[in-house]
Amino acid sequence: MIELNFSPKVDEAKLKEILGEIKSDEMAGWVELPFKPKLDEIVKIKEAAEKINKESEIVVCIGIGGSYLGHRAIIEALRPIGGPEFVYAGNSLSKRELDYALKKVGDGDFSVIVISKSGTTLEPAKAFEAFKKKLADRYGVVGAIKRIYAITDAHKGALYDEAKRDNYTRFVIPDNVGGRYSVLSPVGLLPMAVAGVDIDSLLMGAETVAKEFEDKEDEEKKESEEKKEDELGDTKKPAETKPVPAAAKYAFMRQLLYSKGFDTEVFASFEPATMYFNEWLKQLFGESEGKNKQGIFPASVIYSTDLHSMGQFMQDGRRNLYETIIDYPTDDLNAKVVEAVRIAHTAGRIPVLNIKVPTYDAKGFGELIYFFEMACAISAKIAGVNPFDQPGVEEYKNELHKLMEKK
Ligand code: PA5
Repeated sequence: MIELNFSPKVDEAKLKEILGEIKSDEMAGWVELPFKPKLDEIVKIKEAAEKINKESEIVVCIGIGGSYLGHRAIIEALRPIGGPEFVYAGNSLSKRELDYALKKVGDGDFSVIVISKSGTTLEPAKAFEAFKKKLADRYGVVGAIKRIYAITDAHKGALYDEAKRDNYTRFVIPDNVGGRYSVLSPVGLLPMAVAGVDIDSLLMGAETVAKEFEDKEDEEKKESEEKKEDELGDTKKPAETKPVPAAAKYAFMRQLLYSKGFDTEVFASFEPATMYFNEWLKQLFGESEGKNKQGIFPASVIYSTDLHSMGQFMQDGRRNLYETIIDYPTDDLNAKVVEAVRIAHTAGRIPVLNIKVPTYDAKGFGELIYFFEMACAISAKIAGVNPFDQPGVEEYKNELHKLMEKK
């Protein structure tokens, strides 16, 4: 179980209201993802992963933002041994990067996973074009099709149309799951399964945290059934009150700090392999909360590396930031660094929030993913913004499309 070193006062009535709003939102599909992973879908994911593994030395994973950061975060953090090498593409529009990705694949046998919910995002579209050509040159048109795995919308979009027309192996991003909340859907599960991450344990970890937020209605039903049994058996158990989930405490703590002028959150990790988990966090919180000219700015550091670059600012710079340590189980020496940082930064007047991760494995990361997704949704709701839209991102996409059309 995730443990915290803080326990703010939580307005439980407000929390209940917020949870009701989150669960009834039209984009709340992610809330249920750990509970009911569709068995046939998991089987299809595992079969595809096995086929990709058998046929490929390299997997090219194309996608950007929510269609990319989550699985990269977990694959890099867990560094599973034995799967194909991953080459990521379509996460920028730099030609230099694309040429480098094509060169990296070289003459190796490869397959392509292309992920885009809208199917119209330019970065992945451009990369997909280039890798489709490389596939066709190498394996012929029919051979190429057999090596393309498309993860996209269930009904619409350019990628959907193409995947259907050309008969690619297809996986669906549910309508009610937005990009940055999609890591527990095929968006994250297929690449992770290919890499050798234990996706069953990951989902189990997420479910542990999700259960803390299980519906009151279900509980009430359970309680009334228990009551009936008690009455029949003439034994009386006191009604159990559920503790406030850690993710909710963290959400209230963030907003409390924000109200006191701490407008920057620095996610700190002491494990370099978790750099992309920090990137995922920055997207999750940045896109969910940065709206209406407000929001906590999410930043990140990896220690002890960044103590030699950002350490001075953290210790003694402008005091508008707080630090959220993601405290992974680590070796003894590194644990001493964690302790030293906590002491030094607290003395330097930085509020230090500690999030203790129970295990450094797929289950532990499953817990963390759901913990942060739910905390983010609650926190945005407390701030009064919609956690599930991203009008700013759409604005950039539209402007770019306009310029491209002009050209
Ligand atoms: O979280 C989001 O909605 C965005 O970051 C998207 O994931 C990102 O822009 C990519 O969009 P798409 O999957 O439609 O290509």
